[in-house]
Amino acid sequence: MTSGSNERIPVPDGEFAFTWNEFREIAALVHGEAGIVLSEAKVNLVYSRLAKRLRAIGLRSFRDYCELIRSKGGTDERQALIAAMTTNVTRFFREPHHFDYLRKVAFPPLISEARRGGRVRIWSAGCSSGEEPYSIALTLLAMMPDALSHDILILATDIDPEMIARGRAATYSRSQADCIPEEFRAIGLERGRSGPECRTSECARSLIRFNELNLLGSWPMRGKFDIIFCRNVVIYFDEQTQDEIWRRFADLLPQDGHLLIGHSERIMTDRHPFELVAQTAYRKRGS
Ligand SMILES: C[S@@+](CC[C@H](N)C(=O)[O-])C[C@H]1O[C@@H](n2cnc3c(N)ncnc32)[C@H](O)[C@@H]1O
Repeated sequence: MTSGSNERIPVPDGEFAFTWNEFREIAALVHGEAGIVLSEAKVNLVYSRLAKRLRAIGLRSFRDYCELIRSKGGTDERQALIAAMTTNVTRFFREPHHFDYLRKVAFPPLISEARRGGRVRIWSAGCSSGEEPYSIALTLLAMMPDALSHDILILATDIDPEMIARGRAATYSRSQADCIPEEFRAIGLERGRSGPECRTSECARSLIRFNELNLLGSWPMRGKFDIIFCRNVVIYFDEQTQDEIWRRFADLLPQDGHLLIGHSERIMTDRHPFELVAQTAYRKRGS
């Protein structure tokens, strides 16, 4: 595929004219605002996801769409564009080795600390529709049913407001909830609910605070985190942006704090103060 500047891209259905200049303008905006890299190989994906936006808002061309996202009044559409370009795939207890790691390594000393009156903070950064923070909450509640009476909180953030709304709503289809291992269902799901949807239990919901947050922007949180989950998020970023995120996570973790990342991500431990201690599980080294 060539990428001449104002040349029309031969997209599959061709409903809307789309040029390489328009593709590049969109890719630059998405990279600048969210860190996500859209290479030319993603051109058909960009076209098909944005063709839906064009239809939804009644625009007739990508030229009009680019004008809209460039304009002062285009804030909402810029946000919709970022949301359209993010991949939100997730599920309960995804990459189950991390929940074993919580159970065997990370949680026991933190639970003791909380019982002594200490503060425990966990961050699910890029939490999508909430399955990841709920899986963390359920793992904790199974070990510490009285977790809510202690100073323990899970912060769950994502750039996409629609995902945050879904996490707060806490309703999932039966097939999504099927990924929750049997042993966590009694403590993790509301009882006596019939119909096609389940809801996570009130105690699980009360442990989590959902908030919108762009990892590329400023982070308003004060205080350190004991554990940070950032899984399958930075895989879409360029290396420099990934490095910046690892550096900022290191600043927010105490010595020995835990950082859990996705199966295809890795941290260069010669560049960052982390040590790989288990499968895609890192701990912050002392200086
Ligand atoms: C593939 S999901 C991963 C969800 C979960 N962590 C997991 O592993 O199952 C990636 C999430 O990262 C979010 N995301 C992408 N860019 C982001 C950014 N710049 N700041 C915050 N979240 C971002 C997306 O909205 C999406 O929900």
